[in-house]
Amino acid sequence: MSPFQLTRTLPENATDAALRADVRQGLTRTPKTLPPKWFYDARGSELFEEITALPEYYPTRAEREILVARADDIAEATRARTLIELGSGSSEKTRHLLDALPGLISYIPVDVSGTALTAAADALLAERPQLAVHALIADFTRELALPASPGPRLVVFLGGTIGNLLPPERAGFLRSVRDLLQPGDHLLLGTDLVKDESVLVPAYDDATGVTAAFNKNVLSVIARELGADFDPADFDHVAVWDRENEWIEMRLRARRAFTVKIPELQLVVPFAAGEEIRTEVSAKFRQERVRTELDAAGLSLHHWWTDPDGRFALSLSGPPARP
Ligand code: SAH
Ligand code: AVI
Repeated sequence: MSPFQLTRTLPENATDAALRADVRQGLTRTPKTLPPKWFYDARGSELFEEITALPEYYPTRAEREILVARADDIAEATRARTLIELGSGSSEKTRHLLDALPGLISYIPVDVSGTALTAAADALLAERPQLAVHALIADFTRELALPASPGPRLVVFLGGTIGNLLPPERAGFLRSVRDLLQPGDHLLLGTDLVKDESVLVPAYDDATGVTAAFNKNVLSVIARELGADFDPADFDHVAVWDRENEWIEMRLRARRAFTVKIPELQLVVPFAAGEEIRTEVSAKFRQERVRTELDAAGLSLHHWWTDPDGRFALSLSGPPARP
């Protein structure tokens, strides 16, 4: 059995300090916001997995279709010996890549959710005892201290999670990924594509209310970690398509006027009736925007693959070859 290592580069107290800072900053500004990374405690990670199976939520199925169809092309283009996955979650779709890469030695899943990482690594190792799995609890928007690993390296960022970063965060993130790559290494990036609002909105506001529960879970995280007296029933789940920015916005809308006490921050937060907290953006892309943003980070687009219905894209890019 190969070794499994779990490294926490985010100390527990750093997570705590980051949550405090984000909540204080986000809930004392107008309009109120919370960063989406705080959705993913154990319950939030479970709810996300439920979302991926919803009939309305097409991105996971569409991306899986591309991975199944293109895994061999990706293997041939990258010949990766190390696979680094950012925001790996359950690593469910990644199996198609792990199976297709004949020379793969090392898999490094990176996620803020320790519970998702441990469950994913346990399942993978039971099936693939030869694979060296080094899971990293880390925030991919901060500096990534990756373990040494053999090249060529393939960094994968699936699910469309890049769309959950705001444009300036995306630019910084792509530059930091570029800095991880040597000539011959690659980035495989999943991006959800712009499409009709009638498809997009139900994907973020499903009939059974799983996405609403996922959205409200951030309130439970803040209640548990910081003692806040949020009542999730005081909020409605809202998903709107912002045509100008080409992103879906998830919000929590106060059903009435009330105040929330957050004792750990010695903060009292007033809400007006109808006031909203923006909890997530989920940007949808066109090929040109992906190419331009990769270019700006010093990455050239080599391949662009979509599912047959053109809902989702996987792009393979890399740094320029050594002169
Ligand atoms: N890649 C998987 C999971 C997507 S869900 C898929 O395609 O299905 C988004 C994942 O990113 C979650 O597991 C969440 O915990 C993780 N995540 C979100 N923000 C993060 C951050 N800033 N740093 C590290 N992981 C993050
Ligand atoms: C993880 N991320 C790509 C998901 C998305 O579609 O933006 C998170 C999500 N939010 C609501 N449903 C799913």
